[in-house]
Amino acid sequence: MDLFDEQERATGLQPLAPGASLLRGFARDAAPDLLAALADIAATSPFRHLVTPGGHTMSVATTSCGTLGWHSDETGYRYTARDPHTGRPWPALPGCFLALARQAAERAGFPGFVPDACLINRYAPGARLTLHQDRNERDYGAPIVSLSLGIPATFLFGGLRRSDRTLKLRLVHGDVVVWGGPSRLAFHGVQPLAHAEHPLTGACRINLTFRVAA
Ligand code: SIN
Ligand code: FE2
Repeated sequence: MDLFDEQERATGLQPLAPGASLLRGFARDAAPDLLAALADIAATSPFRHLVTPGGHTMSVATTSCGTLGWHSDETGYRYTARDPHTGRPWPALPGCFLALARQAAERAGFPGFVPDACLINRYAPGARLTLHQDRNERDYGAPIVSLSLGIPATFLFGGLRRSDRTLKLRLVHGDVVVWGGPSRLAFHGVQPLAHAEHPLTGACRINLTFRVAA
């Protein structure tokens, strides 16, 4: 048994890199509440397939909640205070989202995490996210907290250069990955999803990424 196995068994926390860890099953119990809150958000600000600055339509469908939401179009990536799709402010961050994000960040060594933005990604089988850094936020002092629900995905977690070797992690319903500190700008992505069904989400995966954007 290697050190990681022992540490994970004792603490539920698997270190990935300095400042980065995987919390297996951390959100499993909260998942039904999180999904109920998500349904309300998506009823106000529906999922949509955004266009990248390169002119590609993303295979992942997105929406947001919080005082800021993430948006992309031909002119670039940015945060906006209003949903460009509806013209209204983004839905507020629900209490159960805030609580889970704060607890996960604290567990990973980042106490006092209060996100102002949550990007919500919905993956159907075949959808993917190419390697990228989360770098549209104003300051990199706060970590990224990324929560997975529904069907499994293979998450790629690399280093600070696109060409760095990536860890391949199978993320399942309830898993949370946190990256901050020296790993805050780590490249990451998601491989094309395989077909599967989950009792709570059907044939899709939902990922919530919490950020301090402003
Ligand atoms: C993201 O990088 O925005 C999402 C990552 C994921 O879906 O696991
Ligand atoms: Fe990302």
